[in-house]
Amino acid sequence: PERPALEALQHADVAALLPVPAPESDKYRRGVVGVVAGSARYPGAAVLAVAGALRGGAGAVRYVGPAGDAVVTRFPETLVHAGPPSDAGRVQAWVIGPGLGDGTEARRAMEDVLGSDVPLLVDADGLRLLDRELVRRREAPTVLTPHAGEAAALLGVAREEVEASRLASVRRLAAEFGATVLLKGSTTLVAPAGGKGGRGGDPAVRVNPTGTGWLATAGTGDVLSGVTGSLLAAGLEARDAASAGAYLHGLAGRLAAGREGAPIGASDVASALDAAWRDIRR
Ligand code: APR
Ligand code: MG
Repeated sequence: PERPALEALQHADVAALLPVPAPESDKYRRGVVGVVAGSARYPGAAVLAVAGALRGGAGAVRYVGPAGDAVVTRFPETLVHAGPPSDAGRVQAWVIGPGLGDGTEARRAMEDVLGSDVPLLVDADGLRLLDRELVRRREAPTVLTPHAGEAAALLGVAREEVEASRLASVRRLAAEFGATVLLKGSTTLVAPAGGKGGRGGDPAVRVNPTGTGWLATAGTGDVLSGVTGSLLAAGLEARDAASAGAYLHGLAGRLAAGREGAPIGASDVASALDAAWRDIRR
């Protein structure tokens, strides 16, 4: 039988994906996620990405960038590093992009993480610094998390074109970059990396059923990149990390907004991630 083009993510599938520490586990076995984000102009993006990463299942979060003071003030459990990612110490997955800007340091950091042999998630400003060939040549998995505007820029088309053909757009990006692509929006789609593991057939694109319009507020995407990167560091495969990340993030948004619904901020979404986690494991 032909495989369906779309698969809805289900609660039980996500529950089975969430990493649970073994009794003899330690922080390194749980995974260390490195977050390269923030700038003098946007220190908050670093804080939000770290907030997500702290609640994504990794054993430790390493922050690399200029917003270390803001990050540690809010989250003293973060390991901070001001130099380039390559000498930050042990990291099992990188997240790069939120609030990063496009300065010299940002470009250098991007070169560094693209050259690393661990999974990499690229979001926001990072997407503007991407070299398609360097992504294609990576051995370790890459995850891209654009919204429609960022996807359009990567494809060289108008935003309206992506909005009008989201399924085709997410597939095309996954094929062109050889990366897992999570296309954000009112419905979030996850396409597995093109040219890898497809075995000839067109692997299904996953649709996230959680989420709420209350998530349409500044900074929630930064939280998503942190939580998804943390799941990558914990050892999930790229498409599973992206799927579980989107599912948890959407559920956290719903729980934060409440049954009646009320405005929430991105920090509230990050704070509700543990409740989302418990809800899924219930
Ligand atoms: N329904 C459900 N979910 C939504 C909706 C909606 N109507 N609108 C947005 N979302 C979700 C998206 O799926 C995504 O998870 O909210 C999140 C928004 O993420 P982004 O689009 O990345 O927005 P933001 O966090 O504000 O980005 C901050 O980074 O991407 C750049 O240009 C962006 O400068 C901005 C910064
Ligand atoms: Mg964003």
